[in-house]
Amino acid sequence: MPYIINNEYLTEFKSNISSMKAAVLTAYKKVDWLEVEKPSCKAGEVLIQVNFGCICGSDQHIHKGEFHPRTKTPMIMGHEFGGIVAEVGTGVEGWAVGEKVAPDPIIWCGKCPACLKGHFPACSSLKLIGIDMDGGFTEFISLPPSMLYKVPSQIPDEHVALVEVLSIGCHAKNRAGLKKDDTVVIWGSGKVGLCILQAVRTVTDNTVFMVDILEPRLAIGPKYYENVIAIDASKENPVDRIKMETDGRGVDVAFEAVGHAHDIEGLVTPVRGCIQSIVGGGTICVLGLGNEPVPILFKELIWKEAKIVSSRVSHGEFAEAIELLSKGLLKPEALISQTLHGSQTQRGFEILEENPANNIKILLDFRS
Ligand SMILES: NC(=O)c1ccc[n+]([C@@H]2O[C@H](COP(=O)([O-])OP(=O)(O)OC[C@H]3O[C@@H](n4cnc5c(N)ncnc54)[C@H](O)[C@@H]3O)[C@@H](O)[C@H]2O)c1
Ligand SMILES: [Zn+2]
Ligand SMILES: [Zn+2]
Repeated sequence: MPYIINNEYLTEFKSNISSMKAAVLTAYKKVDWLEVEKPSCKAGEVLIQVNFGCICGSDQHIHKGEFHPRTKTPMIMGHEFGGIVAEVGTGVEGWAVGEKVAPDPIIWCGKCPACLKGHFPACSSLKLIGIDMDGGFTEFISLPPSMLYKVPSQIPDEHVALVEVLSIGCHAKNRAGLKKDDTVVIWGSGKVGLCILQAVRTVTDNTVFMVDILEPRLAIGPKYYENVIAIDASKENPVDRIKMETDGRGVDVAFEAVGHAHDIEGLVTPVRGCIQSIVGGGTICVLGLGNEPVPILFKELIWKEAKIVSSRVSHGEFAEAIELLSKGLLKPEALISQTLHGSQTQRGFEILEENPANNIKILLDFRS
């Protein structure tokens, strides 16, 4: 017997309801490809036919139940996806059937102190579709136009699904105030680190150091970009190498995109490594969302009169990422490891757990 999902609970399938397929997290560590109720295009909304989605690191945490109780089951997963407009609801202007669209999954309240300061990523009740409510790993989703960005038709459908994660790289670059000719280190050559690299390269051609412990991931940066030096932190001390390569100066900007760091004997944590790697007056931009406190020595920061900034999701960088993609200034193909059909979403999560070294982004194809 097929099921429909009704936002919060599964109910028995009713034959008079039109249905679609969706990747539903039915229990932690278990995604099923289910027949669910197809949303109607509500007044004031746009119905999107999803074509591709992408598995994010947060999705992996949700899948394992690590976002419980914030994420509930059953839930349609997915906050990184793109599609085309299938229907335009009454009262909506400026959208037409067939247009390409990238939904920004973030919903901020607009009323809390952070929102009133215009600092939307810090909204105290920030919500994301695919995390706090049903998401886009499905065939259709109805969303308000305020969440939608138009995508030029020349951008391939596969790349539209990467706009969200690329916008995170752009936001980090903007938060760090990166300047032309700056030298950079990016700690973590994973999904986020590689998006930061792409954004960084739109501003500076100077040396970028990529630090990681997985050789296949370290190989990606230098394969796609000139003047990228990969450093394996399990084999050499990144701070010593960066100092050596920069004649003792250090880099202008350091990004921390590791999060849960693997302990390496004798090495400082990535955040402290970032502080030790920068030049006096440099900037550290932290993105990693580890749960453990991270030891840092403040005098190492203060003696350099350095600045630490944090970067959360994006704010306005959807448009920037789309423009950069349309000008061919990003390399989304560098991020895509493999493509599976949406019905194989569970397998996608398993692959990412089994073989993280050789898999960055897994693309999901929701076309029937
Ligand atoms: N701030 C934001 O807006 C934002 C958005 C998305 C993800 N994140 C967070 O960013 C972090 C990275 O996310 P991701 O999806 O790129 O994860 P990922 O697992 O793809 O990448 C992390 C990388 O760090 C490497 N690493 C682990 N220990 C290391 C060490 N000691 N030294 C050097 N490298 C090490 C891993 O090998 C891996 O390649 C996570 O904590 C995630 O939750 C933040
Ligand atoms: Zn994401
Ligand atoms: Zn708010």
